[in-house]
Amino acid sequence: MNSGAEQINLRGRDVLKEVDFTSLELQYLIDLARDLKLEKRSGTEVRRLIGRSMALIFEKTSTRTRCALEVSAYDQGANVTYLDPSSSQLGHKESAADTARVLSRMYDAIGFRGSSQQTVETLAQYSDVPVYNGLTDDWHPTQMLADFLTMIEHSNMPANEIVYCYLGDARSNMGNSLLVMGAIMGADVRIAAPRALWPSANVQSLAQERAAASGARILLTENPAEALAGSDFVHTDVWVSMGEPVDTWDERIDLLRPYQVNAAALAATGRDDVKFMHCLPAFHDMNTVVGQQIATKTGMTDGLEVTHDVFESNINIAFDQAENRLHTTKAVLVATIGD
Ligand code: CP
Ligand code: NVA
Repeated sequence: MNSGAEQINLRGRDVLKEVDFTSLELQYLIDLARDLKLEKRSGTEVRRLIGRSMALIFEKTSTRTRCALEVSAYDQGANVTYLDPSSSQLGHKESAADTARVLSRMYDAIGFRGSSQQTVETLAQYSDVPVYNGLTDDWHPTQMLADFLTMIEHSNMPANEIVYCYLGDARSNMGNSLLVMGAIMGADVRIAAPRALWPSANVQSLAQERAAASGARILLTENPAEALAGSDFVHTDVWVSMGEPVDTWDERIDLLRPYQVNAAALAATGRDDVKFMHCLPAFHDMNTVVGQQIATKTGMTDGLEVTHDVFESNINIAFDQAENRLHTTKAVLVATIGD
């Protein structure tokens, strides 16, 4: 464990957004995830959540986040109830405040995924048990723990020595979270996007504030080459996020074509050990309904935010990143509601 870890106690804490945590607390969760990953791999996992239960309220679809929460719980001996948008009263017939007060009488933790950050904040305000944000339009904090664990593992460097960039829609959850998490952890963070898709002034000032305290280097630029030069890791995300109207695609493609992660972008890092990261799901081929539709319409048959050749190359570590969603989510559960 890192120095200072012995003073950290996250029992009972909500995980709503990165900025609610110190770098030491986030590092503690990453270190705990590393330990739990080793335990699972060596077949020596100790069950620290026996007798616990967790409710998951997912207003949006998910593969990784839901599975990471469920498998973490099962590995550690806890039970899970999954509520999809059509099978709970939340939003239609019951407020977030009332839902939180009911579920916290029955469960030891509540996981939420949806559009509104305000909803997850309200759930936490009225809940007596920890609430976890499994993605809102604004933040994706559990993804950040996995992203940092993955970058630390692949670089063998502490978080504050890592240089990474993000190309794409930077005013969505992933752009916001990668900017602010890097600022808290003291990393060198470069965000490249057209100005119309930069994080809000509020998110930028949160990042600047945290960077001033941590020594992080923050760059926001419209020039992808400037962000790419010297980056150890190149991140991107889908160009149109869940919940955005389908007719956003045309405008978004026009804006983001120069920010595609392709062989030329990777060459612009100047590094032969550069790695590609993506929270997933990714549009890199025509094997999805949306990928097929966009390719037919635009002729972009090689991928959208990332080209197929980059995605299929050995510099792509997005599947390690996806696996780390499990270990880091488990760390959140163990730290907040474990024995
Ligand atoms: N990265 C991520 O959150 O994936 P899901 O949408 O599948 O949960
Ligand atoms: N920005 C994406 C992230 C998916 C994990 C979305 O919100 O759809």
